[in-house]
Amino acid sequence: MLFIALEGIDGSGKGTQAKLLCSWLRDKGYSCYLTAEPTDNNIGRLIRKYLKEDNFDPRAIALLFAADRSLHIKDILSKLHSDNMVITERYFYSSLAYQGALGINIDWLEEINSFAPEADIVFYLDIEPEEAIKRMTSLSSFRNTREKESYEKEEFLRRVRQNYLKFAEEREKFNVIDASKSIREVQTDIRRRLGRILSFIEEEKKKGRQTRLEDLL
Ligand SMILES: Nc1ncnc2c1ncn2[C@@H]1O[C@H](COP(=O)(O)OP(=O)(O)OP(=O)(O)O)[C@@H](O)[C@H]1O
Ligand SMILES: [Mg+2]
Repeated sequence: MLFIALEGIDGSGKGTQAKLLCSWLRDKGYSCYLTAEPTDNNIGRLIRKYLKEDNFDPRAIALLFAADRSLHIKDILSKLHSDNMVITERYFYSSLAYQGALGINIDWLEEINSFAPEADIVFYLDIEPEEAIKRMTSLSSFRNTREKESYEKEEFLRRVRQNYLKFAEEREKFNVIDASKSIREVQTDIRRRLGRILSFIEEEKKKGRQTRLEDLL
């Protein structure tokens, strides 16, 4: 079974696409487990609370994310072993991109996350921060965002996006998806790419061969 990560800046559409992808996989007869980081357990809740503070320490946040992930991985592996496809909205790539954009050394971030297995496939939803912020400001909870905050947010997300784009060049697992398109078009693009991988795996299974996913990516 496959371990799929959806990555991208805030408002890029990860949650929306993850749900649609899971229901597509279920229609195809697979079991699908949908999950996200930070998680809903104690450490995940602590992260959400701490992130709301004005002057949170990015290194402390990075360590908390790694701790949350350590628990999350147990859950993910047990779902994969019981024949589920697992889709996670955000994984350790988010830590590298976000805490990296806050000035934390990316090698150190990789080191504290080195226990985390790579995802089989990463769909990176690429979008201009300006566009993503527009989507989020149309949500009621963001209606009161002041202009200055939104400008600072855009600058920050620009740096996060640069990190993601660098990973996309360096890491073969990364599939860049143009997330500025409509929800339907983005989903079609993801399904097309995943569909190719799934048919390859099914073919190999019929031939009794072990799949080398790397050959496809
Ligand atoms: N392709 C799209 N075109 C227009 N609006 C979209 C698109 N995809 C998602 N949206 C809308 O943008 C908002 C953010 O989407 P979503 O919550 O899926 O993003 P996200 O990447 O999960 O964000 P976060 O990082 O904050 O969890 C939602 O209101 C959603 O309906
Ligand atoms: Mg989301």
